[in-house]
Amino acid sequence: MANDTLTIIDNRTNRSYTLPIEHGTIRSMDLRQIKTGPDDFGLMGYDPAFMNTASCHSRITFIDGDRGILRYRGYNIEDLAENCTFLEVAYLLLNGELPTPEQRQEWVKQVTFHTMVHEGTRSFISHFRHDAHPMGILVSALAALSTVYPEAKNISDPECRRMQIVRLIAKTPTLAAYSYRHSLGYPIVYPDNDLSYTENFMNMLWKMVEPKYVANPVMARALDVLFILHADHEQNCSANAMRSVGSSQADPYLSAAGAASALAGPLHGGANEAVLRMLDEIGDVRNVPEYVKRIKEGKGKLMGFGHRVYKNYDPRARIIKQTAEDVFKVTGRNPKLDIAIALERVALEDEYFISRKLYPNVDFYSGIIYQAMGFKPDMFTVLFAIPRMAGWLAQWQELLEDREQKIARPRQVYLGHELRKVEKPRQTERAFVTR
Ligand code: SDX
Repeated sequence: MANDTLTIIDNRTNRSYTLPIEHGTIRSMDLRQIKTGPDDFGLMGYDPAFMNTASCHSRITFIDGDRGILRYRGYNIEDLAENCTFLEVAYLLLNGELPTPEQRQEWVKQVTFHTMVHEGTRSFISHFRHDAHPMGILVSALAALSTVYPEAKNISDPECRRMQIVRLIAKTPTLAAYSYRHSLGYPIVYPDNDLSYTENFMNMLWKMVEPKYVANPVMARALDVLFILHADHEQNCSANAMRSVGSSQADPYLSAAGAASALAGPLHGGANEAVLRMLDEIGDVRNVPEYVKRIKEGKGKLMGFGHRVYKNYDPRARIIKQTAEDVFKVTGRNPKLDIAIALERVALEDEYFISRKLYPNVDFYSGIIYQAMGFKPDMFTVLFAIPRMAGWLAQWQELLEDREQKIARPRQVYLGHELRKVEKPRQTERAFVTR
């Protein structure tokens, strides 16, 4: 392409600058040369919420929001959901290629034999209130693992990083299941190494007094597909948190706790829980038009709708909608699906949503499936965190291997007070002590 440069004329000084354009971006640091005089700090870009700022070069996930495309390492999400297991996709995200049969066997063995957690961590979980939100428990337990594996601070050692990555992929379902059993007042169920990753998660959630848990294969496959769909999504809010905390060279357990905290927000991973509460509030298909009217009046948001990047249908939502039918054949149809379908139909035909390019996102249907599987709404974001651990760790690893990256420290535009002095005399603190 001819002349990949941008010429800027600073009308304050009539000086012009030519900046190189690379991968459709200019380097913000190239703006700093644009000054009005020697004491001028130089220009910065101002971009609240990073609406138009690339924070890194990445080779993990590609999204085309206008065309509704999502690819992990070049493979379409539809292709991976149909032909792979979640652990194969986790391997792909972390290593750049799908595993060979030998690599797959070693990877599955590694993960399987690291599902146990230290008994102290199990006991730590058991001391939360019975009604503690499972995301609060998961965030705390992820950080607690940092105290169990102090060697994880050696983030510059590739073998040490690999070991912590295996531990986090393997132990997150265990921590999630322990928090679920604790919330129900049930004894925890230890991992069963005879079972696949997803079947073992179901075992730790739902085994009661039977000698051996046997997972329903349709449910196990549906959960595996849901894990694949949630595994990564480039620089979303929680991935940004993982990179930001990780850029200070905090260990991966503390970085993952930061990422999980970001995911817990209702605008991000907490949306699937909020969708269920919204459908409960609507209560009946007949109430949909009135509810949509309230949203259009600015009284709240349609949870599970809209996306910063997708201005077309989220490809994951389409796959999840197909998966729902498989699950409902086993669990029976969730009546909330009818409300969701009615809500989607009304929204997709309404100018308010069309003009704002608001379509169902990954969270719109996932909660309905999880509820049909028997999960309580406050477990939904935990079910998002389990697979997204693979994406967070792939992003963390890429950050540490990128020689351009350093500790994240954005600038600001200061609009506060100019210099001022404390007015004397000031009353001492004792004057405020109530006698
Ligand atoms: C996830 O980033 C990722 O990749 C995240 C994720 C992942 O895999 O990691 O995909 C997972 O987090 C999916 C999103 C889940 N969140 C929700 O479903 C919550 C509801 N959605 C919204 O809060 C919102 O759509 C966001 C947060 C998802 C995106 O917000 P943006 O891009 O900042 O858009 P915006 O807030 O600037 O909205 C633009 C306009 C506004 O209207 P106007 O001020 O122009 O009149 O659209 C409106 C918004 O009010 N709008 C909505 C809406 N979302 C945006 N109006 C009603 N309902 C909504 N859901």
